[in-house]
Amino acid sequence: MEIVKTMDELRAARKKLNTPVGLVPTMGFLHAGHLSLVKRARQECDSVVVSIYVNPTQFGPNEDFSAYPRNLEQDLNLLREAGADLVWVPTEVVMYPEGYQTFVTVDEVTRVLEGAMRPTHFRGVTTIVAKLFNAVQPDKAYFGQKDAQQVAVLQQMVWDLNFNLDMIICPIVREKDGLALSSRNTYLDTDQRKAALVLSCSLRKARKLFADGERDCRKIREEMDAVFSQEPLAKVQYISLAAPRTLQELDQIDNRALVSMAIYVGKTRLIDNTVLGNEDTTLD
Ligand code: PAJ
Repeated sequence: MEIVKTMDELRAARKKLNTPVGLVPTMGFLHAGHLSLVKRARQECDSVVVSIYVNPTQFGPNEDFSAYPRNLEQDLNLLREAGADLVWVPTEVVMYPEGYQTFVTVDEVTRVLEGAMRPTHFRGVTTIVAKLFNAVQPDKAYFGQKDAQQVAVLQQMVWDLNFNLDMIICPIVREKDGLALSSRNTYLDTDQRKAALVLSCSLRKARKLFADGERDCRKIREEMDAVFSQEPLAKVQYISLAAPRTLQELDQIDNRALVSMAIYVGKTRLIDNTVLGNEDTTLD
């Protein structure tokens, strides 16, 4: 496994790779969710590139950029085991050198949900991912359904800017009890960790209602709210039932709906989702 830092090193290493090349962009502190993407890429591609970069432009001024957990040594060991070929760990001067002034923005689909709560977030995500795509030139790029809006936004960017690659979306990896894996779970203390189960419980509730024939979004949202009202440590920021591609809110579900949420457990902000009308074995 080769580890590179600078743009020149990355380009030289990229030239030696067999195709198809799969890219897995990450911010490090890797867990089984990230590794599921690496494993999928390993199955489908001749070469697997993983980037590790905590991207400052996608964090808001009052968010956890400096506190975001980091452990490069452990990440590299996990990636060696998972069979990555090339790991790119750029520094801030490589990604945003002095005088940097170009950003990629996607309009409508970034204005709702996470984008409404975190107004500069997706501009940072699309900019860094466009830079990663340009530098690595992957044939396939791997992302997790855990960040459902990120997937919708990046898919839109790939269409609009004609990136010549396939977006491969991988299912949410959860703990046995249902909590979606996230680097931010490390912020939770024991009681908060228990309380965090309300996210997956409320999603299961929504799936059950849908399976029983409920199509009224207001009713589903009410029942989910009732699950949250049982847990004093959890504060709902939003619960949304939206069209999976446009992310516009729905009153009634005709076909499919993305149920997504942001919940504060203490100071930790957790997100989770499921698509009603799609199979979701991670919540069975
Ligand atoms: P990060 O949060 O490190 O996540 C990297 C990738 O792992 C994302 O595609 C994310 O959706 C996926 N992932 C995280 N938790 C997962 C889980 N429990 N199950 C399945 N996949 C999971 O997302 C980012 O980094 C950044 O925004 C990035 C795309 C790297 C741009 O900076």
